[in-house]
Amino acid sequence: MKVLLALLILGVFQSSLAEKIRYDNHTLYRFVPKTQELLDTLIEIEASAYPGYNFFSPIRGQNVSVNLLVAPDHLDEFKILLKQNNVQGELVVPDIQKLIDNEGFRPDSLAGSFDWRSLSDTYPDHVTIVDGGQSYEGRDILGVKISYSPNNHRHTVFIEVNIHAREWITSAVATFIINELLGNEDPEIRHLAENYDWYIFPVFNPDGFAYSHTTNRLWRKTRQPYSILCYGADPNRNWPYQWMQGGASNNPCSDVYAGPSPLSEPSTQSMFSFINSLGFQIEAYLSLHSFSQMLLLPYGHTTDHLDNYEEMKIIGEQAMYDLSKRYGTQYVVGNIPEILYISTGGSMDWVKHEYEVSIAFVYELRDTGEYGFLLPAEQIIPTGLETMDSIVSIFKSYEILHPRGN
Ligand SMILES: *[C@@H]1O[C@H](CO)[C@@H](O)[C@H](O)[C@H]1NC(C)=O
Ligand SMILES: *[C@@H]1O[C@H](CO)[C@@H](O)[C@H](O)[C@H]1NC(C)=O
Ligand SMILES: [Zn+2]
Repeated sequence: MKVLLALLILGVFQSSLAEKIRYDNHTLYRFVPKTQELLDTLIEIEASAYPGYNFFSPIRGQNVSVNLLVAPDHLDEFKILLKQNNVQGELVVPDIQKLIDNEGFRPDSLAGSFDWRSLSDTYPDHVTIVDGGQSYEGRDILGVKISYSPNNHRHTVFIEVNIHAREWITSAVATFIINELLGNEDPEIRHLAENYDWYIFPVFNPDGFAYSHTTNRLWRKTRQPYSILCYGADPNRNWPYQWMQGGASNNPCSDVYAGPSPLSEPSTQSMFSFINSLGFQIEAYLSLHSFSQMLLLPYGHTTDHLDNYEEMKIIGEQAMYDLSKRYGTQYVVGNIPEILYISTGGSMDWVKHEYEVSIAFVYELRDTGEYGFLLPAEQIIPTGLETMDSIVSIFKSYEILHPRGN
C-alpha cells in the first residue's frame, strides 16, 4: 500500500521528452467589460479558442471583471480592443512565466508536505486504495477510501478533485484533507472521519494533470486527440445531464469543449461507472476546483432553486462564514449561473440529479486572481486548514437538520 500511495501522487509526474510550453512575457490583465459589445467579443474569443488569449476567470457578464492572460504577440491587438471599448485594463502580472517559475509547487513539495509512509503504516485498517478505472492514456485513476465502520456506507462522502488539470491547489488540499481525516485528533474531525465513508480522488483527470506538469502548466482538459491541433475535452462539461445545454462548446479547440458526446472521455466514463457502483450510498458530493473563492450549488443550467437549494444555501453560507474565521478569506455562495455563468454537463449536477445526493457543492478555492492557478506553495496549508473548517461546518449543520439515526 505504501507503494500505491506514493504512486497516487508521484505516478502522474512521469517525465516526458516534450518541450515545456513557456509563457514568457504573457501578461495577465484584469478589466471590466462595460459594454455588451466587448462582452460578446470576449465570449467569441473564448468559444472559438482564438489564439493568444487564456481566460483566467470566467466571463460572468457586463460589469463583472475578467482576468485574461494575453500573449505578447497579441498585446497590441488587445490594447486596441480595450481602447475601442473605452475600458481601462489593470496589469496584474507582467510576466506569468515568472510566477510559474516561482510557484514552488513542485512534485516533491506536493508529495513532501505529507508523510505518506507514516500514514499508511499508522492506519492500515482504515485506508484502502481504490481504482476508479483508467484514463485515455491508460493511467489508473486512484482514490483513497477511508472507513472506520462497515455501517458507514450509507453515509458516503465523495470528493472529486482536479478534474481540471491546471487547478493544482485542489490536489494539495485533497491530500491535506486525507491527512486530517486520518491524523487529526480534534473531536469534530474524528466524528467526521469515523461516521462517514470517504472516497477521495485527488486527481480525476490524470492525463491532463501529467501534461500540466510535463508540458503546459495552464492545461485544463483531458488529452484525447480530436484534430491535428486540438486535444482534449473539458471533463466537467462531459457528463450526461443537461449535456451541451449552455456554457459549453462544440469546438474541439475550446477549453470548454463538451466532447462529441456525453462520457466521450475515458476518464469521465471510468468515474461515471465508479460513482454508479456507489449510487444512492452517496450522501455528499464535493468537487474541488480553483480559483475564485466561491461555493457553488447545483444546477448549472438554470438559476431556478431546485431540489433542496434553500437548505444547501443556508448550510453553505454558514460553512463559508466558518471558513472565513481562520484567515478572513471571503467566499461567495450561490448556484452556478447565479454567481458564475451557465455551465452544463458538469459532474456535480449529474450526481445530484441521478442519486438525489443531499449535499452537493463545488468549491472554487483560493484565490480571486492575484496568483490564480499559480497559487504559491506557502498557501497550501492555510487553504487546507480553512477548507477543512468549512467541511466540518457543512456536516455539523447537516446533522442538526437531519439527526443521524445510528
Ligand atoms: C520579454 O520581453 C523583454 C522586454 O521586452 C525582452 O527583452 C525579452 O527578450 C522577452 N523574452 C522573451 C522570451 O521573449
Ligand atoms: C454596467 O455599468 C454601466 C456604467 O458603469 C451601466 O451603464 C450599465 O447599465 C451596467 N450594466 C449592467 C448590466 O449592470
Ligand atoms: Zn475547474
